Amino acid sequence: MKTPDDPLELAEGVYWVGVIDWNLRDFHGYETPRGGTYNAYLIVDEKVTLIDTVKDQFSGELIENISRIIDPSEIDYVVSNHVERDHSSSLPAIMGLCPDATIISTEKGKTGLLGYYEIDGCANWKFETVKTGSEICIGKRNLMFIETVMLHWPDSMQTYLKEDHILFSNDGFGQHLATSHRFDDEVGSDAMDEAEIYYANILMPFGSRILKYVEQLHKLDIPIDMIAPSHGIIWRSCPDKIINAYVNWASGKTAPKVLVIYDSMWGSTELMARAIAEGVRHTGVEAHLFHLRKNDWSMLVKEIMDAPVFALGSPTMHNSMFFTLGGFLTYLKGLNPKGKKAVVFGSYGWGGGATKQMTENLEKFKVELVEDALQIKFKPTHDDLQACQELGIRLAEIAKSESNDTLN
Ligand code: FEO
Repeated sequence: MKTPDDPLELAEGVYWVGVIDWNLRDFHGYETPRGGTYNAYLIVDEKVTLIDTVKDQFSGELIENISRIIDPSEIDYVVSNHVERDHSSSLPAIMGLCPDATIISTEKGKTGLLGYYEIDGCANWKFETVKTGSEICIGKRNLMFIETVMLHWPDSMQTYLKEDHILFSNDGFGQHLATSHRFDDEVGSDAMDEAEIYYANILMPFGSRILKYVEQLHKLDIPIDMIAPSHGIIWRSCPDKIINAYVNWASGKTAPKVLVIYDSMWGSTELMARAIAEGVRHTGVEAHLFHLRKNDWSMLVKEIMDAPVFALGSPTMHNSMFFTLGGFLTYLKGLNPKGKKAVVFGSYGWGGGATKQMTENLEKFKVELVEDALQIKFKPTHDDLQACQELGIRLAEIAKSESNDTLN
């Protein structure tokens, strides 16, 4: 009978040795209300191989998990699929226990690790660099490496365990979800929901590369029975499902809906936002209203990825857009959503400025503005609200004609 201390085995001799970060609420600005995990994997063969590590605050737990299976000094290879510190910052602790182990990474991965861990003595670490198609025999099994440049860092790669058909995909196909379960068939739709938010916040800028990556996977013609990412649950019930979802997201598939995203000082911009959403609703098209200080921006970004058109509203404060709009537009610019249409709206007291600033920002990252900004002074009149509703109706028509409605 299994005990709580038994390590989780994905296949014979292949173990999950990662950690669950139940309290993770912010991942470099990406809000993570459901926590997260850092997944590391141990393959026990003639050569013992650790695939990725975890955030350094959890290095003790990683070492404990490994120690339940083997003495960490027996590790021969440490595969570093990606240098970002959530996967690499326990390397100094691990390498302290197995100083003769060889680190496997891409050339850029090696450069990154040497840059990050100079103070931790990385000059003494042994490295072997790999490219797409490189293989390493670890005994009865072989590892093959696939470079995934800019998915999402220059150094990124994935590792394929040939005999067991397991793809260790690092950030790719991950999700920020803390759960006591480890597999997709144990968590219902949560895994796919969080995978979409993860994709939107981490991988959205790289859609064309994702499509090429999937093409490359098909060309390599490798059977994949399990996708084991470095965040969240492991895809074992139908790995193709998450690959196909990535293709949909990267292709810009959208649903017929209109988002109204806004902030408000004294309620005038909110009245406008509600009237726009009401106009959308009258047409039967789905409308979503999001106050910027009352919603997670990571989820909002996912909504923008799914919608063909959005309205962005701000009051004018000190001749500028409201500060939350500035922050949100900066976040959105980095994620570079493609093929979106938008309109801006807002209220002002003695002088405008917000709609002009929002327009300039959206134009910079090539969001197509479908109409001139809708501005009102002080509080919207009945006629102003009528104009907002009519705007909502026009946005709904755009949503209907632009969406391709085949998400997931
Ligand atoms: Fe999970 Fe790019 O780090």
